[in-house]
Amino acid sequence: MKYETIHSLSLPKIGFGTWKIGGETSPNRAWDTKSLTALRSALEIGYTHFDTAEYYAAGHSEELVGRAVGESNTKRENLFITSKVSPEHLGYDDVFKSCDSSLRRLKMDYIDLYLIHWPGRGMKLEKTFPALNKLVRDGKVKHLGVSNFNLKLLKQSQAYSETPILTNQVPYSLPDHSYVENGVLEYCQQNDILVTAYSPVKFRSIRVNKTLKEITNAHSATPFQIALAWLVMQPRVITIPMSFDPQHIKENFDAAEILLSADEMTRLSNAWEKGNE
Ligand SMILES: NC(=O)c1ccc[n+]([C@@H]2O[C@H](COP(=O)([O-])OP(=O)(O)OC[C@H]3O[C@@H](n4cnc5c(N)ncnc54)[C@H](OP(=O)(O)O)[C@@H]3O)[C@@H](O)[C@H]2O)c1
Repeated sequence: MKYETIHSLSLPKIGFGTWKIGGETSPNRAWDTKSLTALRSALEIGYTHFDTAEYYAAGHSEELVGRAVGESNTKRENLFITSKVSPEHLGYDDVFKSCDSSLRRLKMDYIDLYLIHWPGRGMKLEKTFPALNKLVRDGKVKHLGVSNFNLKLLKQSQAYSETPILTNQVPYSLPDHSYVENGVLEYCQQNDILVTAYSPVKFRSIRVNKTLKEITNAHSATPFQIALAWLVMQPRVITIPMSFDPQHIKENFDAAEILLSADEMTRLSNAWEKGNE
């Protein structure tokens, strides 16, 4: 695995996403077996960064992450757990309640990285950050970050946070360059903030794009691996693909080792017309 080092912290370039682990917007117990199989295989393969949220399966994703970690031989200090507070819980007191509930579900005494999941309507960062800062001071959270924040909101967050904003988690993939176009990627790269690329392989044309096919064949890889390699070859970019399939989970983990040439990177960056998935 390759790592991104930031603020004396080493984070794997490829972590494991958990949207749909345990359900979608509510718990789906019928998915528990396949969810636990996925989490266990990710832990066995060597993933150390797990990305969850109170929103995912209404907390059940966190419960399953906690269960899989608890049952594994992996030491807590060797893992990096991200969770997120939902936009409707950004009031000062609500932030503490959300964080305590996440910790209880995870069966952990700290979260490595706690993010504001997406900007809420009427969000008052000047109220939210004092609570987030206190969580860091109290040791319940190690690092703070945001998600789906445009440049203006990201800069405001930096001003309110007592500790460096570690990441902005945003959609970023071969066809989706919206956070390049809005200036967030460049700003993050110049200001020691990680961009965590979400939904990195969730696009229809992944199996049919001609350029991607050619480069995939040249590396004896899969298009999913090249899509991930293209992201993690970029400075300050990490990613968190999700899969239920142990073979895909391994394939995604191994993608961090693929080296793309400068020419291949440019060809891939230009292989999709704007707005064309
Ligand atoms: N902050 C936010 O607002 C936000 C929003 C969306 C997502 N996220 C986070 O980002 C994570 C990743 O995004 P995502 O789950 O939306 O999309 P994704 O990881 O890009 O795509 C997941 C889909 O791709 C398939 N897949 C993954 N690897 C594959 C492979 N090697 N070969 C074939 N198919 C593969 C999976 O199916 P199989 O199960 O069949 O492999 C699954 O259907 C989420 O799980 C979540 O943690 C955050």
